[in-house]
Amino acid sequence: MRMVDLIEKKRNGSAHTKEEIDFIINGYTNDDIPDYQMSAWSMAVYFQGMDDQERAALTNAMVHSGETIDLSAIEGIKVDKHSTGGVGDTTTLVLAPLVASVGVPVAKMSGRGLGHTGGTIDKLESISGFNVEISNNTFIELVNRNKVAVIGQTHNLTPADKKLYGLRDVTGTVNSIPLIASSIMSKKIASGADAIVLDVKTGSGAFMKELKDAKELANAMVKIGRSLNRKTSAVISDMSQPLGYAIGNALEVKEAINTLKGEGPDDLYELCLTLGSHMVVLANKATTLEEARNLLIESIQSGKALQHFKLFIEAQNGEESVVDDTTKLPQAKYQIDVKAESTGYVSEIVADQIGIAAMMLGAGRATKESKIDVSVGIELRKKIGDEVKKGDPLVTIHANSEKVIEVIEKIKHSYTITSSSVRAPELIYSIIS
Ligand code: URA
Ligand code: CA
Repeated sequence: MRMVDLIEKKRNGSAHTKEEIDFIINGYTNDDIPDYQMSAWSMAVYFQGMDDQERAALTNAMVHSGETIDLSAIEGIKVDKHSTGGVGDTTTLVLAPLVASVGVPVAKMSGRGLGHTGGTIDKLESISGFNVEISNNTFIELVNRNKVAVIGQTHNLTPADKKLYGLRDVTGTVNSIPLIASSIMSKKIASGADAIVLDVKTGSGAFMKELKDAKELANAMVKIGRSLNRKTSAVISDMSQPLGYAIGNALEVKEAINTLKGEGPDDLYELCLTLGSHMVVLANKATTLEEARNLLIESIQSGKALQHFKLFIEAQNGEESVVDDTTKLPQAKYQIDVKAESTGYVSEIVADQIGIAAMMLGAGRATKESKIDVSVGIELRKKIGDEVKKGDPLVTIHANSEKVIEVIEKIKHSYTITSSSVRAPELIYSIIS
């Protein structure tokens, strides 16, 4: 096989065979195929697309380009949840102890976050002592004992995806449904998931700004999962504004604790129940979504879910008393309100700009090497649809420096206030199950 022939084949709109896709992905991983040919091929895929079989074959080839994780020593069906990414997305912190508390094994492998706020690991590390550097054996033992554990990612998973994603980033080929779908699904499958619940975000803070594109991506990923024998469901949810109120690592831990107590923001609570119900059903711990939802609600109301968070923190050496006293979490030195300059209703909050503002405070990494300040972040005080009076706080900035003029400006620009009333956006647009 010659790569040039395969580039021409895709350029002319034909479908690749499985053998051709394996040739391309293996060749690229081994450096036999140079970046310039892979760039041309990616652009051909961008314009010509791929059919369902090509997408599944591409995902499978990327899964097997490196190590894969074997979680078979963990009892039960391992269901992973994946979010396509948003601002202040606190769902994993809530869902891990919540679904574990009703018997669903959560074996979470996480990398550190890049961008807006930290990843799950950074958030958990804002709890004093919390240790994610545990051995594989301890990880498996903890999941079997407590149904939940988190470990830092050290394996060489999906090297083909790492290389290809880097190349796409600089060749204008990121925004292709088959390439995004295979990239995401290959990582989930390589990390050992038996079943996958996808949270595909849409809106200003999401990768897929338009609902139509989010639906297409969700469908593509569900089909790939099912062709590769992983039970897969997808929820399409709103990211036209940040989820919940907290954006920032320790602030989000506090928000997760409140949600596990049943006292969290409505949108975060509802999304966690929706995603959680799908996880519980895929794990065969309930037969219907309604039954699953009732199990989760009962676990929150009885205090079982919160107790489970404590157990999880304690098992990984964290200071579990933060669950009873959230003032023990790291706190920033200054709390600065950004006030509304007019009276009316909030009609827009540009989510990704709020994410950037949180990053400017130090809550997220601009580069892989930057250090995070877990105490800083942004607390929304008003969301879309809320009535505001001139002078009301729109957000509270939690900072360790008083020099936050640029952050204040960014936040003011992200909020729009109109005189006529506005309806809050829908939270869940569509579900594929
Ligand atoms: N996220 C991924 O992991 N891969 C993509 O291609 C796009 C977003
Ligand atoms: Ca949040």
